[in-house]
Amino acid sequence: MRFFEQITQLPPDPIFGLSAAFKADPRPNKHSFIVGYFCDENLQTPLLDSVVEIERRLAEEKHKREYLPIDGDPEYVEAIANLVFGKTEERICGAQTIGGTGALFLAGKLAKLWTDQIAISNITWANHWKIFTLAGLQTPKYPYYEKKELQFEKMVEHFSTLPENSCVLLHATCHNPTGFDLTKDQWKRLQEVTEKHHLFPIFDLAYQGFASNPEEDAYGPRLFLEKGGEFALTYSCAKNFSLYGERAGALFVVGESPQKIKALRTQLKAFIRASYSNPPVHAASIVKGILQDGVLQGKWLSELAAMRERVQKVRNEFVDLMVKKDPEGNWEPIRKGNGLFCYSELSKTAVETLREKHGFYIAGDGRINVTGISQENIEAFTDAIVSSK
Ligand SMILES: Cc1ncc(COP(=O)(O)O)c(C=O)c1O
Repeated sequence: MRFFEQITQLPPDPIFGLSAAFKADPRPNKHSFIVGYFCDENLQTPLLDSVVEIERRLAEEKHKREYLPIDGDPEYVEAIANLVFGKTEERICGAQTIGGTGALFLAGKLAKLWTDQIAISNITWANHWKIFTLAGLQTPKYPYYEKKELQFEKMVEHFSTLPENSCVLLHATCHNPTGFDLTKDQWKRLQEVTEKHHLFPIFDLAYQGFASNPEEDAYGPRLFLEKGGEFALTYSCAKNFSLYGERAGALFVVGESPQKIKALRTQLKAFIRASYSNPPVHAASIVKGILQDGVLQGKWLSELAAMRERVQKVRNEFVDLMVKKDPEGNWEPIRKGNGLFCYSELSKTAVETLREKHGFYIAGDGRINVTGISQENIEAFTDAIVSSK
């Protein structure tokens, strides 16, 4: 008992902690917009038909559950590389990881081999700060978003002041939580700036296919690959395959040449071996099974398109109503956002009132998962926002 007396108690996780409070809330008329799940119109997280089909085949084949190599299933890694970059190259060092989170942590551990810091957008997925701090890096902020506008000029200006070799974390698409992404021209400028100032970009790609088709959503990383520079990319299959709990992810580190990543792969494998040894076999089998079969891949792409269309539809419906009910509230900019989230900029008190008085749970920082909206709750939700302000 005395061993634990000095241990500080930490507050609950802002997302998972609130989700537990939501589950414990006995009110029948409660609604959650907290966690980053895609929800269909019935507010369910779908099990995709393409996943059901591949799992049926895997069950029939009685696929074995031996350990995977330390850096995962090579066919899975190749399939994800093709999805992200449209090709594979020998200067790309890929590994299967435990979700996107695991990839981010490994990227942080690797980056620590040459830098002490990673600059992160001023507003971001709350876990980014924790992951990179745990990996031993400092996490200064760079300007990205202010008052419902992307601050691209300030971002570029700030990048030119960062010390050489610093990492910069970039949301490849569907910036979490603002939804504000770079245009193609802005990606081009950013590539020039990072190259000129010797910065190391780490792309977080957790929503490929949610803003546009998978190819368009990987525009940034594909451009950086084409320009021949060095960077890393972390990948999550949680959202676009609706495989949250399977923990399917990947890390890609791109070097200038195949020789440049030889030593790096040994370091990467050493981190993995000493932390979780090797990644989950079932996650890789599902995703590679879908991507390697033309028909199943087509099915998955249309399921992904349907998810994307719902995201865009509910975002528009939400903004239409908010603009009507709260004309002075500056809701219109949210329409141009991408992905699951919008950043409401509601005050802490408003967020609490929404939760306590009306049973509508949104994240503490005002982030709303728009797919928590349905035809049934949209009127009540938008009314409650207006009356909570
Ligand atoms: C921006 C971002 N990156 C990474 C992740 C991590 O994904 P995973 O669940 O695969 O660890 C998430 C999950 O919500 C996310 O929103």
